[in-house]
Amino acid sequence: MSSVAAAQTNLESDRPIPLVSFLDPIQADLAAVETKLNEEIRSDVRAAYAISGHTLSAGGKRLRPAAVLLSARSVKNAFPSQTVYASASAVELIHMASLIHDDVVDNTDERRGRPTANVIYGNQISVLVGDYLLAKSIYLAAREGVLEVIRIFSKVTVGLSEGEVLQITAQGDPNTSEETYFDIIKRKTAGFIAGCCEVGAVLSEASPVVRQALSDYGLSLGLAFQIADDLLDFLGDPKVTGKPRGSDLREGKMTLPLIAAYRQLGDEDIRKEQIAGWIQDPETLTPEAIEQVVATIHEFNGFEYARAAAVRQVAEAQSQITHLLPASQYRDSLCSLAEYALGRTS
Ligand code: FPP
Ligand code: MG
Repeated sequence: MSSVAAAQTNLESDRPIPLVSFLDPIQADLAAVETKLNEEIRSDVRAAYAISGHTLSAGGKRLRPAAVLLSARSVKNAFPSQTVYASASAVELIHMASLIHDDVVDNTDERRGRPTANVIYGNQISVLVGDYLLAKSIYLAAREGVLEVIRIFSKVTVGLSEGEVLQITAQGDPNTSEETYFDIIKRKTAGFIAGCCEVGAVLSEASPVVRQALSDYGLSLGLAFQIADDLLDFLGDPKVTGKPRGSDLREGKMTLPLIAAYRQLGDEDIRKEQIAGWIQDPETLTPEAIEQVVATIHEFNGFEYARAAAVRQVAEAQSQITHLLPASQYRDSLCSLAEYALGRTS
């Protein structure tokens, strides 16, 4: 069977809910979201359905729906479930759309241990199915009729796109600053997770102060999550992360561990010129060169530096909610989610 045919036979997602105990209080909610996602991606245009199904069934952590659900439940347990499930599904549709587009932009051939949509179906149709999923998310949110949620989703999507444009502009620049790095990840990842938490708060009719606190929690969680992702790119096991080691380097991207190490290299240090050359022209990067970059980052404590930054964001995230939200299993789960972002291996 060809890879296209294989992907087309598996349109429905029957993925297990992630086995992390802090998601136990929302297992039933996550299952309802999974059912909704399977319904929403259906199309009688076979390729649109096939690519959406391929992306949905690849799994993923469902972090963004979990952020909506936990935020909503942490404010008010008796929440408007159908509207919240629709919003939690809509954020996953936006996320799926952004990953399909991102894999085209980054020319990625593997995600979550499986060939990407662009590899199986080509760039043209992948971009269009990304558009299809984004449109589906707007349609779903519009059907629920909560204007404030649509406003937050729109703002988040603008930020996602700006972050990705900024990232492309910085690609190939070895002098990318820490400030630019944070600007990029704030927009492309953290702003989105902040929006998920804010939507949960809005749907549970949180006070403006609690709504802001949950949004700030999400922003810090998102920053920690993306820094951890960038650490895993260098240090993770490709069999567990589902993507090859050193992918960011291969894309000419300077991420926090490398930024922290590179700026300490003296102008006379031959490694400075070498790393600049690889970032500017990643085609010249060999597996040995990747190992050399990793060794240099180790030598200059770049991994410790990035990890410390992520640890600070986790503490910041937790401090936003511990005093403002009433004690509950959902608030505990939000705190555990922040720690999970840091300790994850995939
Ligand atoms: C993954 O980053 C990509 C993102 C977090 C955002 C992608 C956003 C767009 C393509 C803008 C268009 C948005 C929509 C809604 C259609 P990464 O490349 O660092 O992570 P990776 O290693 O998982 O690919
Ligand atoms: Mg990418």
